[in-house]
Amino acid sequence: LNQLLFKNPNEPPVVFHWVPFFGSTITYGMDPYQFFFSNKAKYGDVFTFILLGKKTTVCLDTKGNNFILNGKIKDVNAEEIYSPLCTPVFGKDVVYDCPNSKLMEQKKFVKFGLTQDALRSYVTLITAEVQDFIKRHKSFKGQKGTFNVPKVMAELTIYTASRSLQGEEVRNKFDSSFADLYHDLDMGFSPINFMLPWAPLPHNRKRDVARNKMIETYSEIVRKRRSGDVKKDAHDMIWHLMDCKYKDGTPVPDHEIAGIMIALLMAGQHSSSSTISWILLRLATKPQLFDELLEEQKRVLGAGLPPLTHDDLSKMPLHAQVVKETLRMHAPIHSIMRQVKQPLMIEGTNYVIPASHVLMSSPGVSANMSEHFVNPSTWDPHRWDADVAKNYDEDDQDDEKIDYGWGMVSKGTNSPYLPFGAGRHRCIGEQFAYVQLQTILAAFVREFKLRNPGGSTDIVGTDYSSLFSRPLAPAVVEWERMGREL
Ligand code: HEM
Repeated sequence: LNQLLFKNPNEPPVVFHWVPFFGSTITYGMDPYQFFFSNKAKYGDVFTFILLGKKTTVCLDTKGNNFILNGKIKDVNAEEIYSPLCTPVFGKDVVYDCPNSKLMEQKKFVKFGLTQDALRSYVTLITAEVQDFIKRHKSFKGQKGTFNVPKVMAELTIYTASRSLQGEEVRNKFDSSFADLYHDLDMGFSPINFMLPWAPLPHNRKRDVARNKMIETYSEIVRKRRSGDVKKDAHDMIWHLMDCKYKDGTPVPDHEIAGIMIALLMAGQHSSSSTISWILLRLATKPQLFDELLEEQKRVLGAGLPPLTHDDLSKMPLHAQVVKETLRMHAPIHSIMRQVKQPLMIEGTNYVIPASHVLMSSPGVSANMSEHFVNPSTWDPHRWDADVAKNYDEDDQDDEKIDYGWGMVSKGTNSPYLPFGAGRHRCIGEQFAYVQLQTILAAFVREFKLRNPGGSTDIVGTDYSSLFSRPLAPAVVEWERMGREL
């Protein structure tokens, strides 16, 4: 009755709920996409729901994506939402624990560090890590077997990302102390920490110990490198950040280098391990695609399949399309949030969103609407055959551009496909992610053919219990070796 009597005509409809504070928290948390699509059918593209006591207004489809992701800094704010969760993990003075202008500079440092030379070297390093991993992993002994894809891919991507982006010292530490620290730090990302980030709970204590140890370890690596003891012979991000200067001329302090590296580790690890898992699980439902992918490699590289290079990747559109189509259906980030800073009119409606609300965007919804994609629930990399080059990076399109200090980004976007977001908070890791995912995919295609047990075409459900969505584990597939054991 309350909800009916006190409805403000200028506010969007509120999703019906019985329990005041929790509102729709559980239904949303269990399956955000089902929640978005069913309420879209009931209320339209704009509606409000109660998420842990917060009035949260969801704006869907291309207009909604654009309204939130390209919102002005005076209207919407990311750090107020993300800082309680991220600062205890990344540490002080980086990402959301600093003014937005500083984050823009930090994004510039990272984006400019991902040079062609760096990416070229990463392809070689990542390939070597995958081959070494396959050689020593217990799941890959003999000529055929099975493996639990999400678990094994989480292990693999930590090695590939750390060896390339984080550098040799960090990679070597993952064979020992870093794996546990990483795990403890990662626990800081549990959704309960949106409510209780600083509560003296055991997992938060472990998180704080792990963060301090990690910052100290990175700082030590930087000090050692600065002392001249280590030869600069790699393109990792630590070397690059050591040379960067803010606009006012100050170099990046050691603890900030550490914080940025932790943020990259976290951002890259979850998104990439989830995506490569979905890629392999989807391919296992259509094993004929392994033959097509291998054919593509042979066409580009020659039948002898010499080692893959960065230049080869751009000549293998089907490998890129497999990544692209997987991100369409399984974008690892299902919800993006902003705090409203002043009452906001939504164009084309009577709605005014008050400053007390949180805004929520989900570009994964437009990417799975039949209005934008034919048979959206069919995973088909060939749907991109005609325009993969045009759509590879949405910012290559003819949109008007704006410069946030770290690169030109579309000023507004009509694209229904935005797995890397849009606007000032858009991902700067897209190129790295593509390089990593395509390289791992290419290495797997050379080594194995995968299929679902018994040849079934079923696909596992999605685990939404962490902030990044991923396949529900265990998700086991059968592998068969293509050639000799490595
Ligand atoms: C931001 C997705 C990989 C670093 C974002 C955002 C999305 C996204 C949707 C926007 C978040 C927002 O607007 O609140 C992805 C996907 C990835 C991926 C789908 C892989 C498949 C990476 C990697 C790195 C990275 C590998 C690091 C090397 C970042 C950073 C931001 C970002 C620094 C900026 C955050 C901000 O400005 O607030 N990513 N990402 N991402 N991502 Fe990624």
